[in-house]
Amino acid sequence: MTSSAAPDSPAGPLTDEQVAAIRAGYEVEGAVLEIGALVNGDALADVPVRIPIAMTNRHGLVAGATGTGKTKTLQVLAEQLSAAGVPVFAADIKGDLSGIAVAGAGGEKLLARTAGIGQQWEGQAFPTEFLALGGDASEPGRRGIPVRATVSSFGPLLLSKVLGLNDTQESSLALVFHFADQEGLPLVDLEDLRAVVQFLTSDEGKAALEQLGGLSKATAGVILRELVAFAAQGADEFFGEPEFDTADLLRTTPDGRGVVSLLEIPGVHDQPALFSTFSMWMLADLFNDLPEVGDLDKPKLVFFFDEAHLLFRDASKEFLASITQTVRLIRSKGVGVFFVTQTPKDVPTDVLAQLGSRIQHQLRAHTPDDAKALKSTVSTYPTSGYDLAEVLTTLGIGEAIVTVMNEKGAPSPVAWTRLRAPQGSMDAAPADHLAATIAASPLLPRYGTAVDRESAYELLSAKMNAAAEAEAQREAAEAEAERAEQERKEHDRIAAEAARAERERLRRSGGTRTTTRTTTRRGGSSGGGAGGGIGDVIGDALGSRTGQTIVREVLRGIFGTLKRR
Ligand SMILES: Nc1ncnc2c1ncn2[C@@H]1O[C@H](COP(=O)(O)OP(=O)(O)OP(=O)(O)O)[C@@H](O)[C@H]1O
Ligand SMILES: [Mg+2]
Repeated sequence: MTSSAAPDSPAGPLTDEQVAAIRAGYEVEGAVLEIGALVNGDALADVPVRIPIAMTNRHGLVAGATGTGKTKTLQVLAEQLSAAGVPVFAADIKGDLSGIAVAGAGGEKLLARTAGIGQQWEGQAFPTEFLALGGDASEPGRRGIPVRATVSSFGPLLLSKVLGLNDTQESSLALVFHFADQEGLPLVDLEDLRAVVQFLTSDEGKAALEQLGGLSKATAGVILRELVAFAAQGADEFFGEPEFDTADLLRTTPDGRGVVSLLEIPGVHDQPALFSTFSMWMLADLFNDLPEVGDLDKPKLVFFFDEAHLLFRDASKEFLASITQTVRLIRSKGVGVFFVTQTPKDVPTDVLAQLGSRIQHQLRAHTPDDAKALKSTVSTYPTSGYDLAEVLTTLGIGEAIVTVMNEKGAPSPVAWTRLRAPQGSMDAAPADHLAATIAASPLLPRYGTAVDRESAYELLSAKMNAAAEAEAQREAAEAEAERAEQERKEHDRIAAEAARAERERLRRSGGTRTTTRTTTRRGGSSGGGAGGGIGDVIGDALGSRTGQTIVREVLRGIFGTLKRR
């Protein structure tokens, strides 16, 4: 490995001392993701720029104008994470990440580039799982294992986002979900939700609507229209059973590599909001399910949002707050999140502040708006030896301004970096490769075929009940432990007597719940519904299914998504 720039006559903007400081700033003890090499006039192969893998749970941003190399950077990171045994999820919105599944072809130009940055390049394929929203695996030209969610699980906040509801309508939809939860109504698909809204706006539902409070008939009407229009666009196929279990994203291969799961959506250009929102559902679901683990040597999963501006565009305040909260807290559950988007301006400040690593590709400065974005981007960097406004507009393709979080949790020096080339293919994987991968996937038997509405309803009910059961048991165990502790402490005879009385009272009342994120009504819809008979009426609307299952209680987590474990 040699540096092509003579150390005593730097061809770039940095002095020797500055280069030395950058070299020192990227010396890492633990495992790393090699991003590339410093550029100072020429690339300096002996000044590697890298992210400590242990810091990838501190999240990151990959930004840059169209065609500047963002997706390839994502691929470079994903490949090395996989090689290090870290599973990766990426929303592959243009389908151009699928090449990661096949070895790259190389070529003279590529090898010249990689030699210049000290990368020992060889083509390599990575273990890949192809997922695609909705539908059925048997469809011709299918590009992934079907990913579905139930409407119950998706929750009101994410659904509001895809329906394009305003704040008032969003809180009204939350009330509709609240009602369904209370009544123990599993909402499998959009039709189920429509039936509940329809009920609430009917004469039979008048009392229930009034009891709910805050949901006007007019707003319910708007929601209903939006639901109908949404379903008419074919959105119904994305909702249903079997629902995707996000634990399936956390897989490694027998040889210890992380599985790269790529999610595509057929015809994404029609429904970009749905796509990004579904990705968010997956992240929220992981958040709900994963235990706290603190900081690990390497994360359990790194989650990439390509075209992340779609996630934030037109998002409500509550939606943005939920994203911010998820990003802040999921790190201690061992999940890193990387946003990929055109300018940092696409990402809300509160989220941006949580992103430890930044790989900024070239920015354009054609319009006054561009110039403003450039200026604000420059202002977010620590001081450096660069005229950043100049450098950011002249970076080559596959080059970036990089700063990462070092092992001590401090920002590394700002470094103009030429990035490594992906070792998988830079072209999309061929269709027959996709088909073969899907056919051989261990996920195919579980998710390949949508189950019919009747059994889906049963399935979801059982899941909701199991979650409620587990939560109830956990709480009972907690309460029991607490009681035992109290008893040990009670030496006062009267206090002991009181405690016994309290236990007796609790036993008689069947226990109470205190968890704030849950709705607590027991009994479900068969006969016990609010106002009496309501369950039957909705049952008619839902195709007489509500009497069949009793859902005891429903637990909701972040984004109002359903808790399953
Ligand atoms: N690290 C790299 N090594 C070699 N070539 C690269 C690298 N990064 C980008 N390129 C070249 O630049 C092209 C565009 O890169 P890429 O698709 O990643 O851009 P992008 O920023 O994601 O564009 P878009 O905004 O359109 O999605 C690639 O097809 C490849 O030829
Ligand atoms: Mg791209």
